[in-house]
Amino acid sequence: MRRPLVAGNWKMNTSYAEAQALAQGIRERASASPVEVVLCPPFVWLDLVRRILADTDIALGAQDVFWEDHGPYTGEVSPAQVRELCKYVIVGHSERRTLFNDTYEAVRKKCSAAIAAGLVPILAVGEDAAERESGRTEEVVCAELAAALPEPPSGPIVVAYEPIWAIGRGYPADPEEAQRIARLIRSQLAQLGCDDENTPILYGGSVSAATFEGFVSQPDIDGALVGSASLDAEQFALLVEIASRTQF
Ligand code: PGA
Repeated sequence: MRRPLVAGNWKMNTSYAEAQALAQGIRERASASPVEVVLCPPFVWLDLVRRILADTDIALGAQDVFWEDHGPYTGEVSPAQVRELCKYVIVGHSERRTLFNDTYEAVRKKCSAAIAAGLVPILAVGEDAAERESGRTEEVVCAELAAALPEPPSGPIVVAYEPIWAIGRGYPADPEEAQRIARLIRSQLAQLGCDDENTPILYGGSVSAATFEGFVSQPDIDGALVGSASLDAEQFALLVEIASRTQF
């Protein structure tokens, strides 16, 4: 059975004090859960959050990673550096793809370097509004998956289906539509030689406690990649609780 997973992507939010309070709030509310809980704070707060989460099962993730091990790459962080603090790393988030020019090739290199370093990539894929309107959702999702995973990965991965048009908007996708794409992702993973049955597939895009149950009760959706609702300890803990209640 796949373990449900709820990951919070704090993006470029939180001061030092806010990160401390948020991590403590989540520690108090979500550390005794059977769900795999992952916090992805900004790089600068990773060690702070790691210390707050010490002796809990809550895992840590980075929001991005470079593919080289070390060297003259000002501003970048290597997979080995991330691995010293984290279990997971988000790769291919649409904000990286659209704002920072993370090409298919960059996403593939990041993914394979992360796996080689012992990290579990949370690979984000999803179509934008224009692609959706022109009926290209399946094509885009399959192309992004195939480009990121040209060979079966040599370690576990997580895939997050994140329709770009549903991110940060306050209105999520339709859960049945998301299930259809999650099912497609699972069959595409099998075609790519991945361990599809054991790969968690998450939904992401305006996840909130009001609508989450509809997603996590779908057979191929194993949890969520959460943006804004992960910045509120109570809301985030509620999502963890809903995943736990629905899946166990
Ligand atoms: P959101 O962000 O929950 O704020 O829509 C999701 C994401 O970008 O992963």
